[in-house]
Amino acid sequence: MTRQEQYRDVLSKIESLIEDETDWISMLSTTACELHHAFDHFHWTGFYRVTSKEMLSVGPYQGGHGCLRIPFSRGVCGRAARTRLVQWVRDIDADSDHIACSSTTRSEVVVPIVTEDDTLLAVLDVDSEEPDAFEQADIDGLMAVAALLGGRAR
Ligand code: SME
Repeated sequence: MTRQEQYRDVLSKIESLIEDETDWISMLSTTACELHHAFDHFHWTGFYRVTSKEMLSVGPYQGGHGCLRIPFSRGVCGRAARTRLVQWVRDIDADSDHIACSSTTRSEVVVPIVTEDDTLLAVLDVDSEEPDAFEQADIDGLMAVAALLGGRAR
């Protein structure tokens, strides 16, 4: 199976699992679990939610513990929240914004999650122990997941 096909499968699984759910945290938990177990190159998979002005709080997630809070001014997650742009970091050592919560992380992708009326709710953060682990298929797939969750928030 190509990575693209893996994303197609995991997205349809997440869609069906959260179809009748109304609680957004339950949707995020299910999504973190499904994504994390679908891909061998993920070692931390989860969300940082906007919980107060320019502040992100960790969770739900899968993997080792993450920093509990990340202000918008810090980290790759903060940069994603600030700019609302996808962050694709092929080599975290070359990115001075990266916060090293795990010394084994080598590359990461962070995708903002916004509602249909343009409110930023969270970022989806995926970290890998492999250098340059992510491809365009990851970006497209993770953006599709973020769009699904942004559309389901209430
Ligand atoms: N991706 C984060 C740091 C790792 S998390 O705490 C799991 C950042 O640099 O924003």
